[in-house]
Amino acid sequence: MDLSTTYLGLKLANPLVVGASPLSDHTHVARQLQDAGAGAIVMRSLFEEQIDAEQRALRHHVETPAESNPEATSFFPNFTEYQLVPDHYLRQIEDLKRALTIPVIASLNGFRPGGWTEYARRCEQAGADAIELNLYQLATDPTVAANQLEADMLETVGLVIGSVKIPVAVKLSPFHTAPAHFALELEKIGARGIVLFNRFYQPDFNIEELEVAPQLKLSDSSELLLRLRWLAVLSPHVKGSLAASGGVHSTRDAVKALLAGAHTVQVVSVLLKNGPRLLTSLLTGLRSWMDEHGYTSVDEFRGAMNLARCPDPGAYERANYQKILQSWRV
Ligand SMILES: Cc1cc2nc3c(=O)[nH]c(=O)nc-3n(C[C@H](O)[C@H](O)[C@H](O)COP(=O)(O)O)c2cc1C
Repeated sequence: MDLSTTYLGLKLANPLVVGASPLSDHTHVARQLQDAGAGAIVMRSLFEEQIDAEQRALRHHVETPAESNPEATSFFPNFTEYQLVPDHYLRQIEDLKRALTIPVIASLNGFRPGGWTEYARRCEQAGADAIELNLYQLATDPTVAANQLEADMLETVGLVIGSVKIPVAVKLSPFHTAPAHFALELEKIGARGIVLFNRFYQPDFNIEELEVAPQLKLSDSSELLLRLRWLAVLSPHVKGSLAASGGVHSTRDAVKALLAGAHTVQVVSVLLKNGPRLLTSLLTGLRSWMDEHGYTSVDEFRGAMNLARCPDPGAYERANYQKILQSWRV
């Protein structure tokens, strides 16, 4: 049975990918994930702000040597603090590459065009097989229109792509006005894959203390549905790779994402809850499902439930929306 898939031009033994998270922080954990069957691993993100801070500190250091300037001396702890983080990131890429045989995908997280994007080249030089660029942001400025935000994002992605030879995937938010159009714009400028979707960590309110209460809840399978819809919409149009990220907790979830058109299925929450060995049971389940349904390769059924044969997906969605509302009786 052939579980292999091609993602961003990389040949993976199977479509299960460990998504960006602390699961890549220790090489021994990454090894366990590989041994349990991971097809590839995405590292946690290095943030635009971290890289900017390092670059600012470097410039400051060169132009105003610390020993000749008390202000710079007081600045120096910040400098070391910030510089070490990106450096450590590069060392972690090297360590993972030494420890693993599966592809290692570095993750950068930023949305503004700037010098930080060149860091992608350093990740490439450290051995990363691909870059996943997470465009996480909350569009809170009422003076900035959607087209301006998207223009900045496209410029940012273009800068990252322009600085490396390895493939670049873009991890998107589900909150674009026209996600299908934006995905194709990303492809036009050279993105090799789209990761659907970024997950927003939504702070709650504490109504006793009148404080904002940050929280990090792990996902459940209900979050997959949003991904399925957009995978099914994008799959017929996108020439490159699609990855599902969010709400994959079982073999059934993984199969659904593949049927919708995903080339890879990223998992994080379920591994944080259950540990690396869960990957093995997901793979065993995938093989049994394929066996029961007479498939011998993942390629045979990928996208079988996308909207390729639907003449007007927008009308189809509106029709289903109306049907579901009309079906409720009191
Ligand atoms: C603890 C934790 C840390 C994460 N760190 C990152 C990160 O650094 N960069 C990123 O793009 N996504 C990060 N994510 C998001 C995951 O990559 C993934 O998109 C999200 O958890 C949805 O997948 P899941 O339902 O399988 O958990 C993180 C998620 C968790 C739970």
